[in-house]
Amino acid sequence: MVAVAELNAAQAGAEWQRLAAAVARANQAYHTEDAPEISDADYDALKRRLQAIETRFPELASAGSPTGQVGAAPSETFAKVRHAVRMLSLENAFEPEEITDFDDRIRRYLNLGPDAALIYTAEPKIDGLSLSLRYVGGRLVQAATRGDGETGENVTENARTIADIPTTLSGAPEVLEVRGEVYMSHADFAALNARQEAAGAKTFANPRNAAAGSLRQLDAAITAARPLRFFAYAWGEHSEPLAPTQMEAIARLGALGFVTNPLTRRCDGPSALLDAYREIEQKRATLGYDIDGVVYKVDELSLQHRLGYRSTTPRWAIAHKFPAELAWTRLEAIDIQVGRTGALSPVARLLPVTVGGVVVSNATLHNEDYIAGRSASGEAIRGGKDIRPGDWVQVYRAGDVIPKIADVDLSKRPVDAAPYVFPTTCPECGSDAVREEGDAVRRCTGGLICPAQAVEKLKHFVSRAAFDIEGLGARQIEMFFADETLPIREPADIFTLAARDAAHLSKLKNRDGFGEKSVTNLFQAIEERRTIPLNRLIFALGIRHVGESAANLLARNYGTWAAFEAAMTAATVGEGPEWEALTAIDGVGAVLAASVVNSFHQEAERASIDRLVAHLDVQEVARPRTDGSPVAGKTVVFTGTLEKMTRAEAKARAEALGAKVAGSVSTKTDLVVAGPGAGSKAKQAEALGVEMIDEDAWLRLIGG
Ligand code: IVH
Repeated sequence: MVAVAELNAAQAGAEWQRLAAAVARANQAYHTEDAPEISDADYDALKRRLQAIETRFPELASAGSPTGQVGAAPSETFAKVRHAVRMLSLENAFEPEEITDFDDRIRRYLNLGPDAALIYTAEPKIDGLSLSLRYVGGRLVQAATRGDGETGENVTENARTIADIPTTLSGAPEVLEVRGEVYMSHADFAALNARQEAAGAKTFANPRNAAAGSLRQLDAAITAARPLRFFAYAWGEHSEPLAPTQMEAIARLGALGFVTNPLTRRCDGPSALLDAYREIEQKRATLGYDIDGVVYKVDELSLQHRLGYRSTTPRWAIAHKFPAELAWTRLEAIDIQVGRTGALSPVARLLPVTVGGVVVSNATLHNEDYIAGRSASGEAIRGGKDIRPGDWVQVYRAGDVIPKIADVDLSKRPVDAAPYVFPTTCPECGSDAVREEGDAVRRCTGGLICPAQAVEKLKHFVSRAAFDIEGLGARQIEMFFADETLPIREPADIFTLAARDAAHLSKLKNRDGFGEKSVTNLFQAIEERRTIPLNRLIFALGIRHVGESAANLLARNYGTWAAFEAAMTAATVGEGPEWEALTAIDGVGAVLAASVVNSFHQEAERASIDRLVAHLDVQEVARPRTDGSPVAGKTVVFTGTLEKMTRAEAKARAEALGAKVAGSVSTKTDLVVAGPGAGSKAKQAEALGVEMIDEDAWLRLIGG
């Protein structure tokens, strides 16, 4: 890479455009779609380079830059809007079997036999960005992007400029949130890029990027000049039901003045859904706008309501994505990366190749079995072909964003290509790398003594969804980790940094990248993060299996650090009331639960957590709104046969109302709901004097 100091104006301009588009895209992927496409480290590197270019050529940034607002991500430049009803994403499917599975799952959940009628809708999945429009008294009062699903960005003024979005409605419910996708047609995208190019402004990589960049403009006049469109396909809060079915609700939105997709139709089961999929796929090239799959939804809204939601996706819908894009290239090398949980992940280093408009030079190889041509259960994959450095491999990008390797061309295998030998010791710390029974992944056993694990944990700790400390990104973490005089070896060290740098600034300043001002800013940014919401803290701990949504679930359930910590400390894997309560949380399975409990019982790890928390003021997270719920905070046990709903459904409903659902009756049980055939649990309840009611009484209690 040419040093910024050596770039001439033309080179700088060209590179600026490329970087600005990449940063804008990364921001959008991260903030708008909740689906980062590049690592935080790569993001930081892009932004640093962009900033360096702008420092030397300030005129480049004058037209607006993703770095423009002094390091703040664009999301922070828009007011935040808390969605009255969360904006969710969709489960993805690629294969026809996954669609029959989807149908089976729904039937099981609803206790419908294989022959009972079950109608779905099928509609194109628009490749744009989702938007929620709030109407009160028939007037558009707010438009918000999805953001993280709970909180989005206020883009009301921009949305008002979109012709497809009515600003007034007549005959609508008093409160109505209409949701759908903002997108740009192929023709408008091409014309916009031509205009941009003629004006010497940045061009966009694809229509979605253009739509996102156009909607998320601080100046609504720019949005107005951009040809955006909107399809309505869903709704959030509404003061009255729109219709009894999805299909009729969509028709109602059409009658209210929204544009709805004309290819939406009803299907009477998986095979009709697959017909719709094929038909839409055939029309894809001539639609004039990008779609990336077909969305199936249960038609009956009362059934949607019963099916409800998992932590981030509805049970009643699925996105059937179109196949991935493919390309062949050479595998130059296999590198092993050690992650924060010690996993040894093989990474393919590729001869760069364009796959669906994106240059790919790395791809995941999953694990050692995958390289060897075996599945985790020992069956042959790719016809048993292994993957060797030097091979020609087929790269693809599917719904998720990390490129993968699908196939090997044996006819092009170099004669001297040797099978890859997966390391059995950690390449970073030399500790044994072991595979546990049933685990596809080999893990370094070094724990916190493994520098790779420690540094990855730290990078995770400061990443954007965790502590997000301005000025302390992946690069700075590596620098501090390696530092002898002022090291950061564990999260607690971050909060002692200022105190340890006793002569404030003296040690830090003059180091590469640190001036007086940036040191002051860094200390201040660290200070600000001493106060942290519980969910972010839990996520930041980097516990295996605990992603953002699991951290949110845990935080919402326990509310405070004290409650969470006490429960995890008291819990034993596999038994006891704390374990029961933990695994009773909808979305928390035994594997996740065991991982959390174990990390609180692992001495070194626990000590490191304690040292960290001593520096923090952890904010309470509000439990779900269950005001007025007659069962909030109660522990309920279901036993016997339920006739009006399945167990899974009963449990999900009860939890949505703030109840805890336990598997066995104890003195802590508040209520037992007993159906026919209830046995020992009913007896136990009687013996303990716990209130017991039947299913009908339960339904009356919770309001049907
Ligand atoms: S329904 C509760 N329908 O896909 C489910 N989503 O991958 C609400 N999308 O965030 C979504 N076309 O931005 C739905 N016809 C369609 C869609 C669609 C595109 C987007 C939407 C969603 C994302 C999930």
